Amino acid sequence: MIHGGDWASFDAFTRSQQDLLDLSSSISPYGPGPKARALWPSLVDRLHRYPDWRKGELTQVLAEHLGVTTDSILVTAGAMEAIDLVLRTFQPQRVSVEVPAFSEYAARSLVYGIDVRTWHHPAELRPEHGLLFLANPGNPQGRVLQPRECRQYLKGASESRHILVVDEAFIEFVDSWREWSLVRDAAKSDRLVVMGSLTKFYGLAGLRIGFLVSHPQIIRKLAAWTIPWHVSLVAQEMACASLQDQDYFDLARIRLNQERGRLAMLLRPFGRVDESSRANYFLFYPHLSVDELIKSLQKQGILVRDARNFEGLTSSGVRMAVKKPKDSMRLVHAMENIFQGGRL
Ligand SMILES: Cc1ncc(COP(=O)(O)O)c(C=O)c1O
Repeated sequence: MIHGGDWASFDAFTRSQQDLLDLSSSISPYGPGPKARALWPSLVDRLHRYPDWRKGELTQVLAEHLGVTTDSILVTAGAMEAIDLVLRTFQPQRVSVEVPAFSEYAARSLVYGIDVRTWHHPAELRPEHGLLFLANPGNPQGRVLQPRECRQYLKGASESRHILVVDEAFIEFVDSWREWSLVRDAAKSDRLVVMGSLTKFYGLAGLRIGFLVSHPQIIRKLAAWTIPWHVSLVAQEMACASLQDQDYFDLARIRLNQERGRLAMLLRPFGRVDESSRANYFLFYPHLSVDELIKSLQKQGILVRDARNFEGLTSSGVRMAVKKPKDSMRLVHAMENIFQGGRL
């Protein structure tokens, strides 16, 4: 498993640094929000209870937030469980993945012995009982799919008997995200499934919390594969509190989008920034070797994601998360140290 934010794999020296700046995983630095933080101490008194296995309150709050009916939502233990449930429920002959992509669509498929193929255009799909995975915004580039492109993908998928699975794990970072999200289309369609996550934008990665949206008939099938109490009481309650804190998170979104533009500009002297991103991360192609950049940043307590193992990326680069302005300044100073060390 190769992912950003893998704290347990960092060496003892790296982990022991109090002020480690982790830009390798793209979690919002503004979460958890104030309502979730206020709730946190009281949760310990309820730990002896089983979680609500129906996830009733959270489903209701999510339905209002997404603008869909409760029977078109299934709450999951992160988008990761959602990927797994989709594979187990549909048991496809083949999984097609638009690359570059999050590695777990292929990795989980292989665990179930499902054939995986990479794919670039709907016209390439041959008719079969297949699942088509793509992410909006994409990971690692952060590009958002236009509604016209989404319609083209859906048409291509239906014509070749595929089910389109759209991973919207990062969509709430995008300005006006409701305009780009396919959740309302998914709630009416038995050919489209949308996966969402509350771990990134709401800063709850440690709790594992996400959801699936599709036609109620599909949701019932997906729900049948879940194990009872798969989403903890703490995760459900923290997610409810977070979703009810939208003023705070609207401001977080504005700040992160401003910061992405500012950081991209500050990094220009040191390499090429992929400015197509609308999410809270972007690709960066440095004017020196990726190995050297990663090592030199690590010595200064900064971790970035090596993007060379994303299949389908043609240039060597790293993926960096956008955090607070003070974190950007620390990154830029670290870059200056590296490049003024005689390499510019
Ligand atoms: C594109 C994408 N989808 C899904 C996930 C998993 O999200 P979650 O933390 O909700 O399981 C990740 C995690 O990095 C991701 O990058």
